[in-house]
Amino acid sequence: MRRVAILISGRGSNMSALIEAASAEGFPAEIALVISNRADVPGLANAAANGIKTLVIESKPFGKDRAGFEKLLTAALDEHGIELICLAGFMRLFTAEFVQHWYGRMLNIHPSLLPSFPGLDPHGQALRAGVKISGATVHFVIPETDAGPIVMQGAVPVATDDTPDTLAARVLGVEHQIYPQALHLLATDGIEIDGAVTKTTACIGSDDNLIAPTVI
Ligand code: GAR
Repeated sequence: MRRVAILISGRGSNMSALIEAASAEGFPAEIALVISNRADVPGLANAAANGIKTLVIESKPFGKDRAGFEKLLTAALDEHGIELICLAGFMRLFTAEFVQHWYGRMLNIHPSLLPSFPGLDPHGQALRAGVKISGATVHFVIPETDAGPIVMQGAVPVATDDTPDTLAARVLGVEHQIYPQALHLLATDGIEIDGAVTKTTACIGSDDNLIAPTVI
C-alpha cells in the first residue's frame, strides 16, 4: 500500500476521483494526505469529509521563494511518510531540485493531449487550433510545465459548438477515469520510464478508436 499525497489549489474534483478510487477494496495506494497551497478551497472540505488528513501550506507569502515554500512542503511530506505525489489542479511551479527529488514518483494531470496545449487555457487553445479530438494526459512531472513522460491519455471528441467550458466538462469526465488508473499503475510498479517515454504493463483496448466528427 503506497502512501500518496494529493496537492491541490482549488476545486479538487480529480482529488475526489482519486480518493474514491483508493477507497475501493484492493486499490494499491492510500490517500494519506491532501495539501492545498490556498486556504478555503472546496477540495479541502471534500477531503476532510472523506476522513483524509488535510493541510494548508500557503504559497502566496513565499512569492518567488519557491525553495522556502518547498521546505515546508517537504517537511509535511516526510512527516506523513509520503511515497508518491499526485498533482491535481495544483497551480504552483516547483524548483528543479524538488522535481528531481520526486522524479518518477510525482504525477500531474493536464486537460489536453500533451504535448499539445500545455499551460493556461488549454481548452481555448484547442478550440482556436480547431482540433477535432482533445483529451487529458497524466504524466510524470519534470521541471518544464505540463511536460514529462506520458503515462496515460484519454480522448474526447470536440463539438463544433463547443466553448472552453463545455469542452472542459467533457474532458474532466475522462480525467476522472484516467487519473485513478494511472495511480494504480504507478503504485503497482507498472510503469517503466525509458528516457522521455514510458512503457506500462497496461495494454491498449481492442476497440478503442475514436473518430470525430462522425459522418455516417
Ligand atoms: C483539471 O482540469 C486539471 O487537469 C487542470 O486543472 C483542473 C483542476 O480541476 N490542471 C492543469 O491545468 C495543470 N496545468 P480539479 O481541481 O477539479 O481537479
